[in-house]
Amino acid sequence: MTKKLIVANWKMNGSTEKVVHDLSFYTNNEVTNQTNVVIALPYLYLSIANSIKANFCLASQDISQFPTNGAYTGEINATMLKEFNVKYSIIGHSERRTLLGDSGSILVKKLDNVINARIIPIFCVGEELTIRDSGKYLDFILEQLDLLNHLNCQPESLVIAYEPIWSIGTGKIPTLEQITEIANLIDAFVQKYLPHVKIATLYGGSVSASNIADILQLPQIDGVLVGGASLKTDEFAVICTHA
Ligand code: PGA
Repeated sequence: MTKKLIVANWKMNGSTEKVVHDLSFYTNNEVTNQTNVVIALPYLYLSIANSIKANFCLASQDISQFPTNGAYTGEINATMLKEFNVKYSIIGHSERRTLLGDSGSILVKKLDNVINARIIPIFCVGEELTIRDSGKYLDFILEQLDLLNHLNCQPESLVIAYEPIWSIGTGKIPTLEQITEIANLIDAFVQKYLPHVKIATLYGGSVSASNIADILQLPQIDGVLVGGASLKTDEFAVICTHA
């Protein structure tokens, strides 16, 4: 049986000391030092992570919409990320969509850039509470998924993370039926439009040591995207024991 994918999203957290401490801890722990464990660090810390010999994989939390070197102040492109052995890139996290202006057209460019560089996108979708309550959440998520029909490059592999915004950082998680409903929607979309792409479907939003077992027993769910709980080494290691 393939192991579940466990992705840590550190967001804008950390310090040199914490990165060295936590990554050394993960390197010395057999459940975390595995290729199915992925750590998405702030860009600055990727070079430290590279100096630590480990089996877990690295991810970026974003990428520039501009593909190549040039006059784009503050940006980081895929070639730069490849130098630091970045295997995955989180694209379209709700915080980037709502706080940092990542529109659909920008996300298509970002997706194309990572796919071109053979970095695996972790593409995030998910609805706000008002949309869920309105009953229109399936259409909303399909519309977000539809960006994948506008790519110039075909990915070989793609990770899609369902992250309901009302669950991120709130401690509220959807029922297993609600998660399954969206995982089935993603699966049907992929079968129809991306039948040759290898897909993994993740759940994200308030994943913790106490709910991980229930979430990962769902056959439609191939892994989790973990925010807050990934900043606590002991809790993250417990989460990884369920992979
Ligand atoms: P959370 O964040 O686990 O803190 O809810 C998840 C995410 O935003 O990816």
